[in-house]
Amino acid sequence: MILKRNYVAVSTAMFMMGTVAGFSQSIPSLKDAYKKDFGIGTCLNNAQIEERDPATTAFIASQFNMATPENIMKSALLHPKWDTYDFTMGDKLIEFGKKHNIKINGHTLIWHSQLPSFIRGIKSADSIRTFFTDHIKTVAGHYSGKVYSWDVVNEALNEDGTMRKSVFLQYLGDDFVTEAFRLAQQASPKTELYYNDYNNEQPKKRAGCIELVKKIKAAGVRIDGVGIQGHWHVGKVPFKDIEESILQYAALGVKVMFTELDIEVLPRNFQGADVGQRMTANAQSNPYPDALPDSVQQQLASDYENLFKLFLKHKDKVTRVTFWGVNDGDSWLNGWPIRGRTNYPLLFDRKNQPKPAFDKVIALKK
Ligand code: G3I
Repeated sequence: MILKRNYVAVSTAMFMMGTVAGFSQSIPSLKDAYKKDFGIGTCLNNAQIEERDPATTAFIASQFNMATPENIMKSALLHPKWDTYDFTMGDKLIEFGKKHNIKINGHTLIWHSQLPSFIRGIKSADSIRTFFTDHIKTVAGHYSGKVYSWDVVNEALNEDGTMRKSVFLQYLGDDFVTEAFRLAQQASPKTELYYNDYNNEQPKKRAGCIELVKKIKAAGVRIDGVGIQGHWHVGKVPFKDIEESILQYAALGVKVMFTELDIEVLPRNFQGADVGQRMTANAQSNPYPDALPDSVQQQLASDYENLFKLFLKHKDKVTRVTFWGVNDGDSWLNGWPIRGRTNYPLLFDRKNQPKPAFDKVIALKK
């Protein structure tokens, strides 16, 4: 079947019943199309987790079978004070997952960014170790049996494959990654445990990532998978490096997943997703405030098509593909590295209508 644009809106009830019978142009389901291949995920923000808009909830449930919290399980939000944890939103996410049959990937236990503000006042290794240990034990313990998996450590590497100079490296040394996995395994024994990073498909960073996985395994500690975030640029997706990375990570005996997929279409003078990096706005920085030109739209569609061809080729190794946002309007790329731009990095437009990229990805399964 050739898919047409301008799909009709399908009622909430129809989505929830999982049927689209009678709606000849209703939106096909990504998760259903790929159900025999790998999981299809999205990140979720507060409004989505709280189900503030029933049509959005139904849309999410119809398209995705896995989800990662965009922010609410980061330590600044879950652990706002030294001895205070706030599980309110995280618990709502667990309920959301149960209700809609969506597996939850916890994100993230140990990350140098979005840390609680009290960390800045700590200047002793003992106190950092106490924070580190208590945080993992308490959070992983609270969600044990409730989340399917954890991004145990996020973004611990520099681009050249060396360890990033984080507060954890500074005070705990480079064994902190292994220790994080050891503690997570103890607190949540049945949960899959992953290392997650951006640009770790690039050869130097990949080599550092491989060393980390080997080190964790050599210590007798479990690591189940490596997440390649997949924040790429239109027309510049590094297909060869991605394929090589799938093969090299899988050869270590770990699962490979694409955990934060989006394809940037706006001008940027650097690659990656280091949230500390910013750019200054100028007259050229927001070139498509009203619509994406057809040439870029077609390139985006072709990039997504080729990516999914690659994922399918290695479906025995790739276990999940998660988009970093449900639709273009939700994407963090509208606000980073320059605030207030209009970006188009995902498969659905701002009204949850499929873009040509979606049609290509679905057509691979026809
Ligand atoms: O919650 C506050 C709100 O109270 C305040 O009014 C508002 C004003 O700016 O900020 C809100 O916090 C923002 C938060 O998102 C929630 O919307 C932060 O400023 C903003 O920095 C934060 O951005 C998140 C970013 O991580 C922070 O590091 C993005 O939403 C989120 O998409 C992004 O996700 C990361 C992954 O976790 C790791 N990999 C890279 C990826 C993209 O940066």
